[in-house]
Amino acid sequence: MGSIRHICCIGAGYVGGPTMAVIADRCPEVQVTVVDLNAERIAAWNDPDLAQLPVYEPGLDAVVGRARGRNLHFSTAVEQTIAASDVVFISVNTPTKTKGLGAGQASDLKWVEASARTVAKAARGHTIVVEKSTLPVRTAAVIQQILESAGGAAGGEQTSFSVLSNPEFLAEGTAVADLEAPDRVLIGGQDPAAIEALASIYRQWVPAERILTTNLWSSELSKLTANAFLAQRISSINGIAAFCEATGADVREVARAIGADSRIGPKFLQAGPGFGGSCFQKDILNLVYLCRHYGLEEVAAYWEQVVTLNHWQQQRIARLVITKLFGTVSGKRIGVLGFAFKADTNDTRESPAIRICRDLLEEGAILQIVDPKVSERQMAQDLGQASAPTGRPSDGSWHQVPDILQAAAGADALLLLTEWQQFAQIDWPAVAAVMRRPAWLFDARAKADASAARAAGLQVWTVGEG
Ligand code: NAD
Ligand code: UGA
Repeated sequence: MGSIRHICCIGAGYVGGPTMAVIADRCPEVQVTVVDLNAERIAAWNDPDLAQLPVYEPGLDAVVGRARGRNLHFSTAVEQTIAASDVVFISVNTPTKTKGLGAGQASDLKWVEASARTVAKAARGHTIVVEKSTLPVRTAAVIQQILESAGGAAGGEQTSFSVLSNPEFLAEGTAVADLEAPDRVLIGGQDPAAIEALASIYRQWVPAERILTTNLWSSELSKLTANAFLAQRISSINGIAAFCEATGADVREVARAIGADSRIGPKFLQAGPGFGGSCFQKDILNLVYLCRHYGLEEVAAYWEQVVTLNHWQQQRIARLVITKLFGTVSGKRIGVLGFAFKADTNDTRESPAIRICRDLLEEGAILQIVDPKVSERQMAQDLGQASAPTGRPSDGSWHQVPDILQAAAGADALLLLTEWQQFAQIDWPAVAAVMRRPAWLFDARAKADASAARAAGLQVWTVGEG
């Protein structure tokens, strides 16, 4: 397998951790070390109890359990690990800038730049540097410049670098399955030997025809474009969902009909409370920023509308709940089913639940939130206020509850925001018995058994159902 014996990955997050775990699992002869400045996160990756891993992904505990300590390591020794590695993946966060030039749209590259500087300083011999983070087009040129400015010599030894782009397409909740059987692996670069070395790693388990190679800029832009196209489908179907509600059509029937067209396809046509997650919004805004930078105002405005519609969908749902509850939720209990941005993850970044819950808190609601994987600490951080002491909730307060029945207790409504499987199997007669009448189910994911809820006496609103 080429000459790759040691891999370092900078960033032990939702991408770095699972990606490296699968590489280590599939390439037992390669030593893989994931490094991070966050000592707490590294300690969690090293926790002997695999239920304590910092990232929840179905199947990840088994993969980490097989490889950890054998050829998969988690460490805070960043420079030492870089020095010992042939390949360094940069898999650090690239959030939207919050201040300065491009604030609110451009990606903040300070963690990527810091990583490149550390690689420049610590690397030995020839090192392949791989962009795994999602980055603006032409970032590889910046990384290359930083690496070259190291002067080509570290510790008296000549150093050299090849920069590759290898964006990650995994989705949270299915990360392990996506990594084990990807639709494609994309490698962009200028150095054929470096491309071949990285491709030889993936060939250990990915069929050769699924490993696409291209130039750097096309690779970088393909990642932003893939996310923009996926998110665009969600805003498209959510817009049609609102139209269905107004006209008596059913968005699931519409999705079934259009999805049967092989040119459209059935995936990513699920109407919901709007897309969340750390990347769709960030990557589209980055695309918008770059288009404006290159003078393409119409193209920028086109993609920006995908994000605008997503915000509108979230606001629309909060407003609808208030309207149906006689125009006010002040002092009313609402059970919130799900807080993660999608099922099978503990991640809440940009979760639609955050915006919707904040709007309801603002209106004075008392929220009883249940989510199988999200901690109370995370909810408090996202909602910008501590939970109310149990038993003494006041207007505009929230607390976490352990199960659906307690979310429903004394509530005027249940609001289903994340499509966890358990919400499809609710015991509606038992739930209805503890709610205040008239009681509502607002199902923003079309996940619950609406007819069972109706039979138990609830009024039901389902997204996209007219
Ligand atoms: P994350 O925030 O979960 O993890 C990033 C980690 O990098 C953090 O633990 C942070 O402490 C660490 N870090 C930052 N600067 C560092 C430095 N200089 N040295 C060492 N460690 C450092 O982020 P993530 O969700 O894993 O995303 C990483 C990148 O991958 C982003 O660019 C994102 O857009 C992209 N991506 C994410 C997903 C996803 O599903 N989350 C999928 C595809 C691509
Ligand atoms: C997404 C992409 O699917 C990945 O390919 C990409 O690698 C990743 O972003 C990234 O770059 O971070 P992720 O955000 O983890 O993955 O999860 P998705 O399954 O794409 O869901 C994103 C959001 O869209 C969720 O809130 C989900 O509930 C919502 N969604 C998805 C819908 O509302 N309807 C759908 O039909 C599909």
